[in-house]
Amino acid sequence: MAPVSAMLPRWRLYSWSNNLMSSGTTLYLKGAEFQYPDNEKKVLKGIDLEIRAGEWIALLGPNGSGKSTLLKLFNALLLPSQGCCFIDGINTNETKSVALIRSKVSIVFQNPEDQIVASVVEEDTAFGPENLGLRSDEIKIRVKEALISVGLWEKRKHAVSSLSGGQKQRLALAGVFAIRPGSLLLDEAMSMLDPASRKSFLDLIKREHSSGCTIVQVTHRLDEILNSDRTVVITDGQISWQGKTENFLSISENELKDMGFAKPPVAVLKEELVKSGIIPGSTRSDIGEIRKKLCLLQ
Ligand SMILES: Nc1ncnc2c1ncn2[C@@H]1O[C@H](COP(=O)(O)OP(=O)(O)O)[C@@H](O)[C@H]1O
Ligand SMILES: [Mg+2]
Repeated sequence: MAPVSAMLPRWRLYSWSNNLMSSGTTLYLKGAEFQYPDNEKKVLKGIDLEIRAGEWIALLGPNGSGKSTLLKLFNALLLPSQGCCFIDGINTNETKSVALIRSKVSIVFQNPEDQIVASVVEEDTAFGPENLGLRSDEIKIRVKEALISVGLWEKRKHAVSSLSGGQKQRLALAGVFAIRPGSLLLDEAMSMLDPASRKSFLDLIKREHSSGCTIVQVTHRLDEILNSDRTVVITDGQISWQGKTENFLSISENELKDMGFAKPPVAVLKEELVKSGIIPGSTRSDIGEIRKKLCLLQ
């Protein structure tokens, strides 16, 4: 029988759209199921999901619905028990491609402590590129660039233990940036951050996204997903809702509450202004855009 890769249309695997930045990675799941060996219940039950290069996906759902498991399929930490997972056209079940897949897809987890591998800041950032087997001069360049970009260059010689929680999470991001992956998977990566650190972390993600990186962001907070293109909701191992994030945010406050989400204040404001006929329904839930529309009225 032909390999699964041969059965999939080539355009799906290699080229999503010419006008999207080429640096992002495509992520593809077809009929993906997953069951942990010591758990009799299937955690993922036939997930079909196509993520284009450069897309920003918000992945939502209740605790235990399978979000973290799904992310782990994307960087071959886990393999689907049924169905398949392709990264830029590479089947994650090809053992020889695991290193390549991990160079394309990086995960940042919730707790920065879980991601620290060295005691000194610059050594921690060098870990990823060292694992890629890069030359030492290339590693130095990448470490410097990554630490500057997250604002930790001045602390490169410091002990990791001396960093604050927010700085540690930015250090985790620096480690990922130094790998220069085409996609970044964020597993509740901002949930332990204070508001200021959250904002600076989100700004770094926006910058990566605007340079073409694919983003898959797991979160419970809808105010963090305002910049995403598409929202996917997982309930009990299945996709229960997916569509444009703007359409998701346009669901009424009560309906979102029933789904377990708190509508962000900016989306509530937009909803009220649209309901009153003050701004058009096409306005994005973005404070800058709402302000512009209101200024045009004067
Ligand atoms: N290592 C594991 N072994 C067995 N069951 C697990 C393991 N990790 C997660 N699970 C179970 O899989 C389900 C989905 O977990 P997870 O993917 O972490 O969900 P989420 O990230 O949406 O909270 C849960 O019921 C959880 O208990
Ligand atoms: Mg999780």
